[in-house]
Amino acid sequence: MTKPFVTLSYAQTLDGRLATRSGSSQWIGGPESLVLAHRLRASHDAIMVGSGTLRHDNPRLTVRLVPGSDPLRVVVDSGLTIGDDAAVLRDGAARGTVLATTARAPVERRTQLEALGATVLVLPEKAGGVDLQVLLATLSARGVASLMVEGGARLLTALLHERLADRLVVCIAPKMLGSGIEAIGDLGIDRLPDAIALHATSWTPCGSDMVLDARLAYAEGGSMLCA
Ligand SMILES: NC(=O)c1ccc[n+]([C@@H]2O[C@H](COP(=O)([O-])OP(=O)(O)OC[C@H]3O[C@@H](n4cnc5c(N)ncnc54)[C@H](OP(=O)(O)O)[C@@H]3O)[C@@H](O)[C@H]2O)c1
Repeated sequence: MTKPFVTLSYAQTLDGRLATRSGSSQWIGGPESLVLAHRLRASHDAIMVGSGTLRHDNPRLTVRLVPGSDPLRVVVDSGLTIGDDAAVLRDGAARGTVLATTARAPVERRTQLEALGATVLVLPEKAGGVDLQVLLATLSARGVASLMVEGGARLLTALLHERLADRLVVCIAPKMLGSGIEAIGDLGIDRLPDAIALHATSWTPCGSDMVLDARLAYAEGGSMLCA
């Protein structure tokens, strides 16, 4: 399958939380890490989030803190629950937004969103959500060679679970939340040799945060497959 190079990028607390238990995550990382996130956005063809992040954070998914052009915005939303007031649709933004959905989405809602200028991709369903392999292949066919995924937890976990992510850029903030939304959920890994391994790692201080940048390698029959 042809797919874009996939970078997962997010900010987490030292104890591995992406957000508080009420879903608040702005901002876990410091201002310097936010600039880094915008630089990463500018270096990718497309940027993707799940519908949970859209509901909680209403991100614009644009490049504002550094020079550079906005990547294509992609939202994974299997029921097309996105509201017209979402920042990725307002003020002409819809033209640069792709909504990846399933046949569960009402046809009339699809038509409304297309009328706003958004591109709606109706894709097969897998495990109760959009089939991510098909989505990546579809984005690749549309010229997306690099995709940055900013979250949230369910989407990041699903991409790791399906071994579709190639690179990880994680901002680790010197904060602890205890209970909260864990950055990465169940990956179905029981044995340590099956852990996803990080290689070509770099650790860079960024303000008061540390940024880990690494390639991902997946265990395959006792050996590792490197991205
Ligand atoms: N710290 C950070 O850097 C950071 C970054 C981003 C988000 N966040 C936080 O993360 C939280 C949201 O995370 P979340 O886990 O609730 O939501 P999410 O991962 O943003 O979105 C998950 C939703 O996407 C849709 N989806 C469709 N197909 C999917 C698939 N194959 N795999 C996974 N999801 C699929 C599903 O909703 P439908 O059924 O509606 O399609 C699913 O519930 C918020 O609190 C936000 O603030 C933090």
